[in-house]
Amino acid sequence: MRYRFCLATAALALAACASAQSPQPAAETGVAHPELWPEYEYPVPEPAEARIADLVRRMTIEEKIGQLVQADLCCVTADEVRTYNLGSVLNGGNSGPGGDDLAPAAKWLEAADAFYAASVDTSDGGVGIPVIWGTDAVHGHSNIIGATIFPHNIGLGAMQDPALIERIGAATATEIRVTGQEWTFAPTVTVPQDFRWGRAYEGYSSDPALVASYVGAMVRGLQGPPDGQNILARGKVIASTKHFLADGGTHNGVDQGDAQISEEVLRDIHGVPYGPAIEEGVATVMASFSSWQGVKMTGNQSLLTGVLKDRMDFGGFVVSDWNAHGQVEGCTNESCPQALLAGIDMYMAPDTWKPIYEDLLKRAKAGEIPQSRIDDAVTRILRVKMRLGLFEAGKPSSRPLSGQWDQLGSPEHRALAREAVRSSLVLLKNQGVLPLKPGGRLLVAGDGADDIARQSGGWTLTWQGSGVDNSHFPGATSLWTGLRDAVSAAGGTAQLSPDGSFAQRPDAAVVIFGEKPYAEFQGDRASLQLDPELAAPYETMRRLKEQGIPVVAVMITGRPLYVNPGLNAADAFVVAWLPGSEGAGVADVLIGGPDGAPNFDFRGKLPTAWPRTANMADGALFPFGYGLTYASPRTAWTALPEVAGASAGDSRTFLAAGAPASSWSLHIADPGAPGSQTRLTTFPAEALDGRARITAEDAAVQEGARRFRIAGGAAAVTLGTFEPIDISRETNGDVMLLVTLKMTDAPDRAAIAMRSGGETAAAAEVQIPQGTEFVRYGLALKCLRDKGIDMTKVSMPFVLATEGATDFALTEVRLGTDAQVVLPCR
Ligand code: BGC
Ligand code: BGC
Repeated sequence: MRYRFCLATAALALAACASAQSPQPAAETGVAHPELWPEYEYPVPEPAEARIADLVRRMTIEEKIGQLVQADLCCVTADEVRTYNLGSVLNGGNSGPGGDDLAPAAKWLEAADAFYAASVDTSDGGVGIPVIWGTDAVHGHSNIIGATIFPHNIGLGAMQDPALIERIGAATATEIRVTGQEWTFAPTVTVPQDFRWGRAYEGYSSDPALVASYVGAMVRGLQGPPDGQNILARGKVIASTKHFLADGGTHNGVDQGDAQISEEVLRDIHGVPYGPAIEEGVATVMASFSSWQGVKMTGNQSLLTGVLKDRMDFGGFVVSDWNAHGQVEGCTNESCPQALLAGIDMYMAPDTWKPIYEDLLKRAKAGEIPQSRIDDAVTRILRVKMRLGLFEAGKPSSRPLSGQWDQLGSPEHRALAREAVRSSLVLLKNQGVLPLKPGGRLLVAGDGADDIARQSGGWTLTWQGSGVDNSHFPGATSLWTGLRDAVSAAGGTAQLSPDGSFAQRPDAAVVIFGEKPYAEFQGDRASLQLDPELAAPYETMRRLKEQGIPVVAVMITGRPLYVNPGLNAADAFVVAWLPGSEGAGVADVLIGGPDGAPNFDFRGKLPTAWPRTANMADGALFPFGYGLTYASPRTAWTALPEVAGASAGDSRTFLAAGAPASSWSLHIADPGAPGSQTRLTTFPAEALDGRARITAEDAAVQEGARRFRIAGGAAAVTLGTFEPIDISRETNGDVMLLVTLKMTDAPDRAAIAMRSGGETAAAAEVQIPQGTEFVRYGLALKCLRDKGIDMTKVSMPFVLATEGATDFALTEVRLGTDAQVVLPCR
């Protein structure tokens, strides 16, 4: 209590005023005209209509509302599925059975059985509609340890091969069925137009025609043909095309942002892939978090009902995205009849399912929601469940493929993924060094060379793809092991050396570099520049080349980036995208046969244009569809200009290497003494009337930390800005405030707080143990929101309040998910 009071005072003393927020969209924008959109025909027969109508007649209003709600594994028990007759459960990127995201495969099937048994229990007199479980199997069954991880969609787009896509869909369906789920939130059919968007790699291409050519094949691979009522009996699952609509068309590529585009562009770029999805009978469509012309898609009736259901004849059901209803105008996470009225049939209400259920029920009983809309939504969900064959399927573990663990990461599926990796590689430069001769001595350098999590990207085992290492990928192959095996099979030798140093001079070097895993909004960037801390391998390439060693650069990336320094430094340059678990596919193409001839040729073509600078507006260096082969005529390389790109500007790092990011400032104050604040710019510094001494101290880099020695009493160290920031989206996800510090001498009490708007500050009490190392602590943003911070206008994302003598060093403050130690919310 005392902390809260102190901090509120401190926050007031340090007041930074909030500026006016953005203007509201004008009326009538964001309204689509269905008659301008193409018509399709949903091909799925409906032989069970009478049976469905009978069920709907017998269901109570409680049972009906329950079907419209989907809860996340984080926050629901099997008992609750029974009590509330929930229509569906999901595992979000960071949840798994029993609270364990990394639970072994058998636990997932066990949990599926438990949810199923609860859902069909009719002892309370209900009709007992079986539940369905949705999961983000977005590149293989990618939440499951041991599953085959296929290349992310951007790499598949480079293959230009719909037939291979259908086989990948089929293999993914098989692996999903092994662990008992019925539904994947895939394929993502976004048509990204701005690759600064952190989800661009989830899309196949920026070209609508290429995306459209894949969608039908993927849906068929996952679901089987749209002809019957037996998806489960055939070993298939239902698919979900997402995110409807224009998730890839937002202004500046901001995740969950606003597509400020005309209806024609909306239709002709972003709408195109939904045609083949509907013609293939896709069972579900997920509405986008984003807005069109300022109106949130999740509340847009003209698009969800007018265009998608009525005009395009989509006959499945529409699911909303993770608490996306809470962003609809006039809604909260706990209440949003607007979404149902707009055309959402099922609410993805991960941790808010109970209030959503209660609110819908109350409004339904009060007659505020037309019965016809409720019945239509229930009917749509039941049709999909009938089509699955769910009512006859029995418990998940009794169904075809269930528990066949050897199907997870089976040799056939891995071979398919390896084929996809081979087909997705795009060759941008080859000055005669590829293919590599297998008999010699190969050096493999770069920090990404032996890192399966890194080559798999986000949405792999964990949401952001962080916090996992090679031990979590049994049976998988890193790019390094693939190269090593290929070379040694041919009698050569290979050496792994991340920094490129060597004892014995190699005949050639492969330098593997590129992006680190990210997913939603964590991957958004201000420019198409490789994060500066990932650029060190350029130096390795130059050094090797200076010594006359032929260099092949292999880039792991979810998007095209400005990489001219790498293109200039290396003799050959290969884009590997995010290849997933079968890294050997890279060696297949890079390493030639004993006679020096290639074993496999390059087939990949750029699925989008490659930028000339970090700003796409400066034009393309390589156009869409570009990609060399071994047969391409050799041309001389003209050095590319190496411009200093626009700054990467990571807006979610507030303090790095001890220094505040631009527009942020570091202060210390006495919470109880208004006006006691000192802005810390030069070191050493004294503050709090001599009670505090602040110095620069070494951390990862020289003087990379600020050390605070406080003699006693109350103190608050803060990071503030004059332009408050909106971190509500991050809060909605599992994002944390990450604080990296070394606690040499712990204070009597400590609290972490934020300040929002004009007056409030709220604190979570934390215990940071004494130690001699820097530790990255994480505190869930949700924790601070629940204490009353308005996450839409945070002017101080970090306040560390202490009481008593203390000595600590602070090196970094940012948002993220990769905490070493998660602090409980107190
Ligand atoms: C993402 C969806 C995903 C869902 C469930 C959302 O945040 O936008 O793509 O399917 O979470 O994890
Ligand atoms: C979940 C993801 C979800 C995201 C949405 C995370 O907590 O794990 O599945 O997509 O939140 O913001």
